[in-house]
This record gives sequence, structure tokens and C-alpha cells, in this order.
Amino acid sequence: MKFFVDTADLREIEEAASWGVCAGVTTNPTLYQRIGGKLADFHNHVKRICEIVDGPVSAESVALDRDGIVREGEELASLHRNVVVKIPTITEGLAATKILSEQGIAVNMTLCFTAPQALLAARAGARYISPFVGRFDDISEDGIEHLSNTVNCLANYDFGHEVEVIAASIRSANHVLQAALMGADIATVPFKVLEQLMKHPLTDRGLESFLADWEKVRNA
Ligand code: E4P
Repeated sequence: MKFFVDTADLREIEEAASWGVCAGVTTNPTLYQRIGGKLADFHNHVKRICEIVDGPVSAESVALDRDGIVREGEELASLHRNVVVKIPTITEGLAATKILSEQGIAVNMTLCFTAPQALLAARAGARYISPFVGRFDDISEDGIEHLSNTVNCLANYDFGHEVEVIAASIRSANHVLQAALMGADIATVPFKVLEQLMKHPLTDRGLESFLADWEKVRNA
């Protein structure tokens, strides 16, 4: 499974990239707003992310009609060869995905919650599909089960082009583990969760005792 970082924060992206684990980035309007992003800076911000990470960088269209989505998608795609246009899983989004993918522009269909939505997204030409996990958990449904249905359904078919599942709305190390066990292609992980993945009390305890024993060796 590949790791993307789910953030618009350049410092977080730089740090994750320096660990050698960041194969791509996903952003959305909320993540951009959270870092105090301004509309006028948005395109430059996307370009700066593309300079940090040499991999797919999802930037979201906010139009709701197919022509508007296509227009925004073409603009976003022209910013850098690695930009992936993020499009909501709605019928106008499917139509825009068809048009953009026929132009060779990679699309990530986002806000995907069910396997049938994902099957339609793949048929329309989406290169990436992002089933959301944590938002199901927020409403007391099992997000991992929904993700697993999507991964299994997509694996049954050849769509005539590469389709990768991005496990999204990831909230915990367990979400990452379950996504990897079921063979999701990618997990897009908030930076805080990425940090948590590397933490274990036995690692800390082991390191502490190795260093204490090494101190004894030095003083012997
Ligand atoms: C996916 O690409 C989205 O940016 C993201 O994972 C949303 O997750 P949230 O439910 O934590 O907002």
C-alpha cells in the first residue's frame, strides 16, 4: 500500500516527504481553508505542493455542473503534470470525469461512500477512487466494511484503464492496518495519524534500555 498525505499544509508535506513515505498528496477545500488559504493563492499553492512531492497531487474542483467541473479541471491540470483533478461522486461529476479522462487528465472521484458509486466512477474513467472511512464511523456505521466492499467489487473487473483505491477519511492506525490487510492501493493519511503510525511504547522502552546499557558500556 502506498501512503499519500491528506493535508494542504506545506510543512507537513515537506516533513512527510523527508521520511521517504509520501507518494502523493490529497487536498480538499476544508484542508485548504484550515491552513488559512486564500482563493487567489490556490493555484500557486498547488504548484508548490507539486514541487515538494513527485507524485499525484489531488486538487478539488468546486463546480457542480459538468461544464464548470471540466473548466476547473482543465485549469487545475494545466498547473503541473502531477495534478489529479478531484471531483465529487455526483452524476455531473461522472460526466465531467468521462470528458476529462478522455483528454488524458487524471481524476480522483472523492466523497465516495458505496461500492456501486465506485463502480460507476471507474466506468466513467476515474483513475483514483476515494472511499471515505471515518465519516461512516462518525455516523456509527462501519467504514472499514464499506471500504472492503468497494475494494472487492472493483477487483472483480477490468475497467480498461488503471484504477486505484485511495482509502480516505482515515482517522487511526487501525484504519490504516485494515486498509492494508484488504489490499487497498493507497491510504491518504492526515499528518497526525502518519506520526502515530510510527509510535509504539515498546519501541520507546526498548530504545531507552539500549541507550542506558550503552551508557554502562561507555563507563565500564
Ligand atoms: C480525501 O481525499 C479527503 O481529503 C479526506 O480524506 C477527508 O477526510 P475527513 O473525513 O477527515 O475530512
